[in-house]
Amino acid sequence: MSEKRPGVAEHYNDVVADYHLNYDDEAYKTLPHYPANYFRLQILKREVERAGLKSIYEAGLGEGTPLASMAEMGLRVAGSDIAEEMVRAAKANFVRRGLDPDCIQRGDIDDATSFANQLESGLFDGMMASGVLPHVRDDEQAIRNMRSIVRPGGTVFVEFRNKLFSLFTLNRLTKEFFLEDLLRDVPATIRDRVARELDQRLATDLPPIRDKTPSGKGPGYDVIRANYHNPFELLETFERIGFSKMKIHWYHYHPAPPMMEPAIGPAFREVAMAMEHEGSWRGWFLCSAGVVQAVRGD
Ligand SMILES: C[S@@+](CC[C@H](N)C(=O)[O-])C[C@H]1O[C@@H](n2cnc3c(N)ncnc32)[C@H](O)[C@@H]1O
Repeated sequence: MSEKRPGVAEHYNDVVADYHLNYDDEAYKTLPHYPANYFRLQILKREVERAGLKSIYEAGLGEGTPLASMAEMGLRVAGSDIAEEMVRAAKANFVRRGLDPDCIQRGDIDDATSFANQLESGLFDGMMASGVLPHVRDDEQAIRNMRSIVRPGGTVFVEFRNKLFSLFTLNRLTKEFFLEDLLRDVPATIRDRVARELDQRLATDLPPIRDKTPSGKGPGYDVIRANYHNPFELLETFERIGFSKMKIHWYHYHPAPPMMEPAIGPAFREVAMAMEHEGSWRGWFLCSAGVVQAVRGD
């Protein structure tokens, strides 16, 4: 197995204890953070059923609830994760539900040799990777490795953090998106001027940097490798690698820029939850995450 990603496994090892609450039908409503995972799992279950998949592999399975729920839908399942504590928790989760924990092992989606043994009894109809693409070393290689898990005609579901959402946040991320993406090829004199203007117009002190996990013991999400992806570029990458029939399912809606949540109060989250699955073009800007669904074409 390749060297561990500095910080990524340590971060997830430290958040494993409460992770299952993201999927609890009651607890998800009162979590301190927005229950985005809950809505993502609804999308995945719906689309797996729609596509008629009979088997699915999960790269980065976390504590295993999404994969276990696919097993309970009757699919053949297997999965891996880079974080030892997540692997341990997922195995325990499977045992608790009367499922076979041997289909779970430690593995790194950046390194195809680390999970090759799980493909020996046949490729899968589907592959899902949620919360994984932000952390990989090399997007193209990781997506190629994901492709190698499914049979020709098989379907992958790959979650990503939406860079276009930066246009809606009106904060430091907006400034970065202007300077590093939109205006990348504009002369430095103009970019410097724009940077100074944006400093006056945007809340560039936000969002706060999460440098520690909630327990205070592990590295926080903003200090480990946790990249955003531009959905336009991502769809091109999938096409280049040999996928077709791409679509994006958007989730984690925002009814206002996040910095306005304190002023709006509890209505912010209630309305956000009501907006999930709204399915229009607005998702490209109002959602901080999406799932690319794509079919292996060959
Ligand atoms: C945000 S969590 C989501 C867990 C699970 N997929 C879910 O939906 O509940 C992301 C998981 O991906 C794992 N992960 C991150 N980078 C990985 C990599 N390169 N290979 C395998 N797993 C990885 C993390 O350890 C973590 O358990």
